Amino acid sequence: MQIIRSVDELIGYVAMQKNHHHEIGFVPTMGALHAGHISLVERAVSDSDVTIVSVFVNPTQFNNPTDLATYPRDEESDFKLLAGAGVSAVFAPSVEEMYPSGTASDHVFELGTAAEVMEGKYRPGHFQGVAQVVKRLFELVRPDKAYFGEKDFQQIAVIRNMVKSEHIDVEIVACPIKRADDGLALSSRNQLLTAEQRRRAPEIHSALAWSVEYSRDHSVRATHDSVVERIDAVPEMKVEYFEIVDARTLLPVEEWDESPEIVGCITVYNGKVRLIDNIRYR
Ligand code: PAF
Repeated sequence: MQIIRSVDELIGYVAMQKNHHHEIGFVPTMGALHAGHISLVERAVSDSDVTIVSVFVNPTQFNNPTDLATYPRDEESDFKLLAGAGVSAVFAPSVEEMYPSGTASDHVFELGTAAEVMEGKYRPGHFQGVAQVVKRLFELVRPDKAYFGEKDFQQIAVIRNMVKSEHIDVEIVACPIKRADDGLALSSRNQLLTAEQRRRAPEIHSALAWSVEYSRDHSVRATHDSVVERIDAVPEMKVEYFEIVDARTLLPVEEWDESPEIVGCITVYNGKVRLIDNIRYR
């Protein structure tokens, strides 16, 4: 596996692959890799001639400096996992390499209403930062397909909108959430949980899974409230938002028959650690 630190080297590497008409699969990550990331990588490796993974903690998508400072990093272990999964090259640049003229940008991406709700509301500027880095990565890596995990359900919708508005020719592949045996959605942030918080964390998925059954004979409002009540009753846990939305527009629904595809998206503070998850109702 080639480890690439500079933009120039990446451009050369990609040009060589394009000359050989190799299909490029791309998995953008912020490192602290776990089995969820590896499932995306494995999908890319099986679909493509060449798989490139980026490991870059993008400062422009963090609206909270403490969150950026405490974001877990372990490059050595990341590279080992990626090499073992059959990755062709990893791009792990510094912030200066990614943003040679600084991180500030005048460009406002058109991300649609999908970027204004939920994470867009609670993390102002987050999706502009995600769009900024993903666009730059797509321009450098020039992938045929790029793989994203459905744990960040809203991020996938926003990236699809960005790709459309910026006229980027890439197929966005959404991959299912990977969970621990006890149901907790795998996330780099899980490493930040204390033993006690980790023990309680599966309650998020349990409540969501239980609510799918509950929703069959209860209203959207009652389903929503019962999930929030159940999770808020767990010590140290507080729901930041839980929204039951149309899976395509991400706008809230009030009735179950309003849309053929409905998903519940949740963000929970478990102590100081912000965890997200989602569940399909329809
Ligand atoms: O999902 C993530 O890890 C990040 O938002 C991404 C897509 C790698 C952009 O920094």
